[in-house]
Amino acid sequence: MYATKITLDESEIPEAWYNIQADFPNPMPPPLHPGTHEPVGPQDLAPLFPMALIEQEVSQERWIDIPDEVRSLLALWRPSPLYRARRLEKALGTPARIYYKWEGVSPSGSHKTNTAVAQAYYNKQEGIKRIATETGAGQWGTALSFACGQFDLECQVYMVRVSYDQKPYRKAVMELYGGKVLPSPSDQTETGRSILAADPDSPGSLGIAISEAIEDALSREDTHYALGSVLNHVLLHQTVIGLEAEKQLQKAGEALPDVVVGCFGGGSNFAGFAFPFLRHRYHHDKDEIRIVACEPASCPTLTKGEYRYDFGDTAGMTPLMPMHTLGHNFVPAPVHAGGLRYHGAAPLVSHVLNSGHMQAKAYQQLECFEAGVQFARTEGIVPAPEATHVIKGAVDEALRCKETGDEEVIAFNLCGHGHFDMAAYAAYFAGNLQGHEFTRQMLDENLKALEGLPSMAG
Ligand SMILES: Cc1ncc(COP(=O)(O)O)c(C=O)c1O
Repeated sequence: MYATKITLDESEIPEAWYNIQADFPNPMPPPLHPGTHEPVGPQDLAPLFPMALIEQEVSQERWIDIPDEVRSLLALWRPSPLYRARRLEKALGTPARIYYKWEGVSPSGSHKTNTAVAQAYYNKQEGIKRIATETGAGQWGTALSFACGQFDLECQVYMVRVSYDQKPYRKAVMELYGGKVLPSPSDQTETGRSILAADPDSPGSLGIAISEAIEDALSREDTHYALGSVLNHVLLHQTVIGLEAEKQLQKAGEALPDVVVGCFGGGSNFAGFAFPFLRHRYHHDKDEIRIVACEPASCPTLTKGEYRYDFGDTAGMTPLMPMHTLGHNFVPAPVHAGGLRYHGAAPLVSHVLNSGHMQAKAYQQLECFEAGVQFARTEGIVPAPEATHVIKGAVDEALRCKETGDEEVIAFNLCGHGHFDMAAYAAYFAGNLQGHEFTRQMLDENLKALEGLPSMAG
């Protein structure tokens, strides 16, 4: 019998996270203070984050040790399995060998738990009692509620209204773990109240929910803020995914993959999987690894956004970050991949894209659900709507190999399960899902809000 799951022993959970900043041929532009437009210093971020995370944010060290307490929590679900997708390969008739890393085995059902436990740990170390955060799909809020529970911290989650309405059981599971959940925009913050005054039916957005959570954190001494994606330290914590996958591919008798694919919201699961492989390009172990990020056509940050300084939130409270952006006022169409509806892209990923070391593709939600259904019917796993984007991307690569006859190795990150997303699948089967196209006119309109902000050249 051939191997389907390639597993590792618990002792093989990585002992250090990989920091791609150490390998960049050119340094990234710095984040800027929202008021002075000068590079931000550690003290500017201290009201929001513990110092250990701020240090990770700017670190140039290639390897950063994972504390034992974090590793032992990760051991609840790590190492996660790597699967060879033989049934999908057969259905596609491709000569490619397809592998996927399965992050849906974490307690909260997605990769988000990898950084949640690390962030909760460092906050606890600094004596913090409460964490405020945002959530889009509900995956991050669930992960942080779980992690806060492990460290006896309170967790306040601002959940994007459209997801709050689409996914009532996500709220229930966050509460089960001890989290408190409010729909965003809420009437609990200045930001929420002003958005509701202008549009009482606002579906919300990650940008709005981030503003609310930051406002909450700044209003209380005992509270910090935590972000589930975008920031350097979040991407760093996710590199356990790619580092494990690298070992597992070796164990399966493969060299480095030819194609690496991830879905893209703010960039954390994509980077966590792809950056450890990208390091082999930087070190010239293998120059021709093709790295592809897959995003929704309704929120095409990487494929249509501009690379420039913008805020991470709607109210303009975060530092200005050098990133691909659709404009911080952008409220994406209410597609079901709630976790991919973010106006900006992680600065680390934006830098890699800008330097030509990866590619990005945008897909419509209908074609993604189609690929997700094919995957469920062949491999058996129900993917999260976000994850259907990476499946679509991997299927496209496998079909390209079918045309060329190339026996390439395609590796992708299956970032989460869709067990709380059955309303989305029901809408798909009822023929109620629509396509949404993002237009140049929408971009021009959104970018007006960025006039006067510093340009990349300073
Ligand atoms: C299952 C899943 N995948 C992907 C994402 C997108 O986030 P990121 O790009 O940071 O991985 C989310 C975000 O909520 C998610 O829940």
